[in-house]
Amino acid sequence: MLNVDKQNDTFLYRQVIELITENMDTGTLLPGDRLPSLRKMSKTAGVSIPTVRQAYIELERGRRVESRPQSGFYVRHRAANDIVRPIRTAALKPVPLGCRSLMERVYDGINNPDLVPLGIANPSMAKPAAKTLHRTMKRIMARAEERSLGYASTLGEPSLRRQIAYHYLDTVGAQVEPDEICITNGGQEALLLALTAVASKGDVVAVETPTYHGMLELIDSLGMLAVEVETCPEEGVEISELERTFQNHPVKACMFSTTLGNPLGVTMPGVDRERLVRLLEEYDVALIEDDVYGDLLFDGQRPVPAQFLGSKARILTCGSFSKTAASGYRIGWVVSSHDIDEVARLKRAFSCSSGLLQQLTLAEFLASGDYSRHLKTLRPVLQRNAERMRALVAEHFPAETRTSRPVGGSVLWLELPKKINAQQLFDEAIGAGISIAPGQIFSPCACYKNYIRLSYGHPWTEKTEDAIQWLGQHVSRTSSS
Ligand SMILES: Cc1ncc(COP(=O)(O)O)c(C=O)c1O
Repeated sequence: MLNVDKQNDTFLYRQVIELITENMDTGTLLPGDRLPSLRKMSKTAGVSIPTVRQAYIELERGRRVESRPQSGFYVRHRAANDIVRPIRTAALKPVPLGCRSLMERVYDGINNPDLVPLGIANPSMAKPAAKTLHRTMKRIMARAEERSLGYASTLGEPSLRRQIAYHYLDTVGAQVEPDEICITNGGQEALLLALTAVASKGDVVAVETPTYHGMLELIDSLGMLAVEVETCPEEGVEISELERTFQNHPVKACMFSTTLGNPLGVTMPGVDRERLVRLLEEYDVALIEDDVYGDLLFDGQRPVPAQFLGSKARILTCGSFSKTAASGYRIGWVVSSHDIDEVARLKRAFSCSSGLLQQLTLAEFLASGDYSRHLKTLRPVLQRNAERMRALVAEHFPAETRTSRPVGGSVLWLELPKKINAQQLFDEAIGAGISIAPGQIFSPCACYKNYIRLSYGHPWTEKTEDAIQWLGQHVSRTSSS
């Protein structure tokens, strides 16, 4: 059946997309097949030609089809170990968190040093900067400045804020005033302060799907509701879907990772960032921009955060040294020209200020050039780990497995055969001495049942390879039983 249901609330072009993807999934439409022409599909489905065109363009944006000049639209060929698809079954309406207890168990796994750590996203551990950081901290302690034992100011140590401002200038050419930066206890507190500054209990917050579980816990614990927005595994949030979400729900703020989102490892292209900020201005919605992985693109070219695109939208950008230098220092920051006074007020109320010794150490780490040198060695290690992990997944997991294609960061997102329940796989993996992150924790409605996230952000050892092999063979056995 190729016709749409006009009584159904779903947009007609989305119904056309579903008709086509169903036919691809069942094998009726195979790679290389030509889709029905716009005219033919419009007649068969009973919708207008512009509706079919919109559907085909969306399918092309999602890389499921390709257009060939003068010829039409064709189903794309996919290599083995192919890229994951956007999921269409997420609850695209505001919902409370449905997987709290599973998240707790995942954190228990993460904190267990006896497990092979494929469940934790901690990229700096792939090549720790321990020696340089220890030396730097020792130097600061040797100076025996009394002030290093005292409180930092609420906004944070000026020398560190200056270094962060300089880092933005140096890497993306953005002019940031050090007084528009507030140092926080890691990226997580940065997200907390930013969200609390712009939204209150009961408000709706738009998130990518899948998204970082820490954001979902935060939204839930502040009594807010998350609404998921369809996210393309290669280009990030679908801006047309975001507009639809704004039209259908009273969204107060968006919480998006514009660079190297977790778990997809996806980076939003420049044109989409421009479209995003225009939409935020039009609908008067704030953006909490999670940029904690911004320095970890494999090619080192940091994209310009949406914050610096010169828009009037209310944007609060959150950064952190956890992913690049030392997660245990708990040092992150918020940049905002519009809301910095409110962020500072909240910082004072929640935690007064952040650890001064760590701030002084990081300020010197950046000022000496050690941070930039460290990134130059860390990125290739992560890239090599990513390549090895994708290769092992292709070798040991069932052929239907699809993976993300990260361009940085430290995580791989896997779509497994439908029969697999990631929560059960998580328990079985723990029994085999391996921690993984089950897909369910990356959505408020726990919908990624047959997905997992694996981390390559740790030193690569034989144990890593054995763990991936065990997982692949276990998934193969379970899916064929
Ligand atoms: C996307 C994302 N944002 C924020 C954070 C929190 O960072 P931090 O460890 O600095 O609190 C994490 C940590 O996993 C993350 O993955």
